[in-house]
Amino acid sequence: MGLKSLFQEHLQSVLSQIELILQELKLDGLVIGAGQPRLFFEDDQEIPYRSNHHFRYLCPLEGASHLLIVRPGQKPLLRVFQPEDFWHEVKPLEADFWTDSFVIETCAQEDQVWADLFLTKGRYAYHGPDGERAEREGCLTQVESLLPRLNWLRLKKTPYEQQCLIEATRRAAQGHKAAERCFRQGGSELAIHFAYLQAVRCREQDLPYENIVCLNEKSAILHYSAKRDDIHNGRVLLIDAGAQVRGYAADITRTYATDEAAEEFRAILADMETLQQAICASIRPGIRMNDLHFQAHERIAQLLIDHRILLNCDVEKAVNLGLTAAFFPHGLGHMLGLLVHDVAGKQVDAIGTLGEIDPRFPRLRTHRPLDVGTYVTIEPGLYFIRMLLDPHRKGEHSACFNWGLIERLAPCGGIRIEDNILINEDGIQNLTRLHL
Ligand code: GLY
Ligand code: MN
Ligand code: MN
Repeated sequence: MGLKSLFQEHLQSVLSQIELILQELKLDGLVIGAGQPRLFFEDDQEIPYRSNHHFRYLCPLEGASHLLIVRPGQKPLLRVFQPEDFWHEVKPLEADFWTDSFVIETCAQEDQVWADLFLTKGRYAYHGPDGERAEREGCLTQVESLLPRLNWLRLKKTPYEQQCLIEATRRAAQGHKAAERCFRQGGSELAIHFAYLQAVRCREQDLPYENIVCLNEKSAILHYSAKRDDIHNGRVLLIDAGAQVRGYAADITRTYATDEAAEEFRAILADMETLQQAICASIRPGIRMNDLHFQAHERIAQLLIDHRILLNCDVEKAVNLGLTAAFFPHGLGHMLGLLVHDVAGKQVDAIGTLGEIDPRFPRLRTHRPLDVGTYVTIEPGLYFIRMLLDPHRKGEHSACFNWGLIERLAPCGGIRIEDNILINEDGIQNLTRLHL
């Protein structure tokens, strides 16, 4: 099916579900604002702008200040802000795969976007970053359970969304291949970052999140953002980098080690690769993310014991005493889509009931069941983070740690392997492994 048909089917399906929400909440319509760019404090430079993700869900038009109005039984109305502006390029709105699906009105003045509407004549709910303006125009901005209901729709990816996600993954994979080549040729973090951008063919602000490019010990910093240019010939590279297509994100991490890296580290890396694939293979529709996360801790415990990083303990003790948490301190994965950490990961129903927090892992971003059509990351990690390990040195379980080996491994930083997974009837489709 072509992109146009996929999009039409996506929009129809989303609109019909929004109509039901409007009925249930006794609303006449939903108004969604794209939002506006903001300036850095007391500066005239714009913070890189990204439109409201709820707007992007319905309409792939980029840019700011647009307004979308959904009413039951009608083609959605799209007010497009097209300023007369000789400072910036304003591209004419041309026919595209999505344009037939909207009644489009272009506005040269920002005020026109809101002008002469019918919003005071009924109950219209607004969702977007411009709530004050919307209230002045007569919209409701605090409709209970509207947002969780909208977020709930986002869990199950339509075929159009799946197509966007496949393309985003393909683009990111090209970047990752170029990054690995640059690393193996001795490139700095900055050079690897540039190689990635070059291969993805985009600017930094087009990425879904800032690239994390870590050589050696920096791999132990989970969200390391510097891009050093003075360190070359790294022994370990951890790169967490994505790409976007029509607003949909890829979120992929790879870890590589050269022959110069500690032999024990290379062996652990090979086993982490097997472990990550085994977790992915174990996914069945309906499995809960917190159970998968617990399974990841058990597998990491076994790996730490096998590699004699943990001593004098078994898997159960290593997990229950929090010893594995010192090496794997983040969640196994999260919802992925229009946002990198996408919506509704904690909801168990449409009206926003939150799932019971698992006392074992109270801070997970996602603990809901993984139903067919949901899209998640699976990203186990194993790091040598001094801040987390040091308390154990003098702690009551110090004898469980092989401190000599940990000291030898610490300069290698850590490992994370992250794939993007679509849950389907049979189990999973690993979109990342199609390309990387
Ligand atoms: N790239 C951010 C994350 O993996 O969650
Ligand atoms: Mn992730
Ligand atoms: Mn990531």
